[in-house]
Amino acid sequence: MEALVRRHSLAVLPGDGVGPEVIDAALAVLDAAQERFGFATDRVEVPLGADHYLATGQLLTDDVTATLREQDAILFGAIGSPKVAPGILEHGIILALRGAMKQAINLRPVRLYPGVPTPIAGLTPERCDLVIVRENTEGSYVARGSTVHAGTPAQVAVQESINTWYAVERAVDFAYRLASARRKKLTLCHKTNVLVEAGKLWLAVMEQVGERYPDVEQDYVHVDAMCMHLPVSPERFDVVVTDNLFGDIVTDLGAVLQGGLGVAASGNLNLVGTHPSMFEPIHGSAPDIAGKGWANPAGACLSMAMMLGHLGEGQAAAAVEAATTAVLAELPALAGADMGANTSELGQRIASRLRDDSAPPVKDSLMSDLATVMTGLRS
Ligand code: IPM
Ligand code: MG
Repeated sequence: MEALVRRHSLAVLPGDGVGPEVIDAALAVLDAAQERFGFATDRVEVPLGADHYLATGQLLTDDVTATLREQDAILFGAIGSPKVAPGILEHGIILALRGAMKQAINLRPVRLYPGVPTPIAGLTPERCDLVIVRENTEGSYVARGSTVHAGTPAQVAVQESINTWYAVERAVDFAYRLASARRKKLTLCHKTNVLVEAGKLWLAVMEQVGERYPDVEQDYVHVDAMCMHLPVSPERFDVVVTDNLFGDIVTDLGAVLQGGLGVAASGNLNLVGTHPSMFEPIHGSAPDIAGKGWANPAGACLSMAMMLGHLGEGQAAAAVEAATTAVLAELPALAGADMGANTSELGQRIASRLRDDSAPPVKDSLMSDLATVMTGLRS
């Protein structure tokens, strides 16, 4: 009789540019994790992206949505191409996916791992371990607005930002819950002094939801001030909750603190378990370096670790995180031609550190605890 093996179904979306390179590396690491921890994945590759769009005219179709919905998780590379006008793939695929799979928040840890070089002088791992909870469904990402007098000097563009109590509350509630499982401090990042209508709603939600979490300290910073505090005193932050656009912007800065864009991971989380969550490095498709092997696969590998934590493979998640960050700490540079190895070789190196269990363990792994945090939400 065949031994019982834990199985997880995965949709893999490599996408454009360096997406397929970093996803190949992450899958090699996943293979090693499966061997060591005794679980299996059934993977279905979905060819969404610029080339598929140019060949077929298709973005996210109902058929693909139905296939994705049946999976336990989605592993995503990057999408975007200079061959397609801005906005088409971003709205038609990435944001469409986050919406269709009801991925209410985008979880973006900002953690400097031991030995990893950061461009921020004097920054140490002890001072840099926070999590940004980005509202993932609305704000100015709702694609609402209009243009009149297009193509004339009188052109007028209106771009709307939508904030509903419902979506803000579920993001803020998740952030409080995460903070109460960590260092018990939640910071709202917004621009309430200028965006007063949206600001009033976010502040009121913070206050009302905060009553359910009396042990969590509440803090507030304006988004511009955040860009000053984050590199200078990241230790001020534990969990940060913010609007979709502010979250997009400050997490690129957060990535820099951790060593660069190639290193940062994210999870688009469906908080109620009705649809799969999706895990993606926060970097883009980087078409200028595609095909050269210059992309750092760490962001994809750490996103995959987060996926494993979410799937309940906490030990494997912690081991992938440890192996990835151990390899990162050995690199002469964190991106480009100077990394000392190409994307695929780095994937192999991380996989072998995982196989021989030679990486020092990571303390307080968010990745490995993700299932617990999420289960708490559903109870
Ligand atoms: C990100 C990216 C996307 C976003 C783009 C590509 C649509 O910048 O995941 O941070 O703005 O969310
Ligand atoms: Mg971004």
